[in-house]
Amino acid sequence: MLDVSYEGTIIPILQDHCMACHNSTSPLAGYDYSDYDHLIRSVADGSLLGTIEQQDGFSPMPPDGPLNNCSVKKIKAWIETLDLDSIPVNDPSSNDGIISNCHLDTVYFQTTILPLVLSSCATTQCHDKVSHRDGIMLTDYESIIKTGKIKPGDPGDSEFYESLTDDGDDLMPPAPYKPLDNEKIMLIKQWILQGAKNNSCNDVCDTTNITFTATIWPMMQNYCTGCHSTANPGGGIIIESYNDLVTLANNGSLMGSVRYEEGYAKMPTNQQLSDCNINLLQKWIDRGLPE
Ligand code: HEC
Ligand code: HEC
Repeated sequence: MLDVSYEGTIIPILQDHCMACHNSTSPLAGYDYSDYDHLIRSVADGSLLGTIEQQDGFSPMPPDGPLNNCSVKKIKAWIETLDLDSIPVNDPSSNDGIISNCHLDTVYFQTTILPLVLSSCATTQCHDKVSHRDGIMLTDYESIIKTGKIKPGDPGDSEFYESLTDDGDDLMPPAPYKPLDNEKIMLIKQWILQGAKNNSCNDVCDTTNITFTATIWPMMQNYCTGCHSTANPGGGIIIESYNDLVTLANNGSLMGSVRYEEGYAKMPTNQQLSDCNINLLQKWIDRGLPE
């Protein structure tokens, strides 16, 4: 067996080949290799070996060409000395420094597609559990695959995808709702192309620089605006601008509803926001609602 240690063997390799791009001030893709705790999470989620061994599903690292065999062997030998079961890969309850295990090129069902479908399609009087118009119910993985007639790997033969891009009467969502924007349609296409799996990942919860435009509005579009637009104002509530949301933040109903507090309607109705998103909203309010 190779004689390897973290300090003597691993740090020098990482310093030479990885830390220029993955350090504490610039943790590209969420990975900081200058810190032991962060490094072992990359071991535990498989991304360290996956990237240096150029495995499928990982971006090959370093980007300018693989490590030499000897370095790869040393890293593998060191990984074998670790007790992987004791490493918390992702701890959703801790709010700072969560290491992302989201692959940039992968579209995840639980993380991206489900929230998007829930807020755009599973709205009242359309495809929720009560209404399921035309027998189509879009509320969870099984129902989306089955009633949306999704063929993994083949968006062109998946009714759900076709209905989003139809140029005739079958376009979904139907008028007066706005069609999904292109970016969302492309995400759904990618997800189907990648096998329409029921997958998920934990994104980096970066609470350092929260603004309405960069952080909060994209979240609203993913989770809320499908039911709170002028065309479809759930409960008479419209969330289309900074001022709309500030009003809800100031009267307490925003946090009350996303925290599922007593006395408020639970928002989103189908599935609670992640701890990270709730935390981002709270911090945004605490910091004076930066625009
Ligand atoms: C020149 C800059 C650079 C260097 C050097 C570099 N990386 Fe990266 N790394 C990136 C960038 C940019 C990304 C995000 C883009 C991507 O995933 O292709 C990334 C992504 C990653 C990811 C996430 C990729 C995935 O598919 O999940 C891991 C893990 C990673 N790097 C590990 C390493 C390791 C280990 C080394 C050293 C052996 C290394 N990187 C060296 C720039 C670098
Ligand atoms: C599936 C449709 C749907 C989604 C998605 C949705 N809402 Fe709602 N929302 C409603 C409906 C319908 C009501 C009125 C419910 C009621 O009064 O019982 C409502 C009410 C509310 C209220 C008032 C709650 C109260 O008790 O005063 C707030 C605030 C709100 N939504 C915010 C949000 C936010 C923020 C999101 C995203 C995180 C969201 N909603 C996602 C349909 C939705």
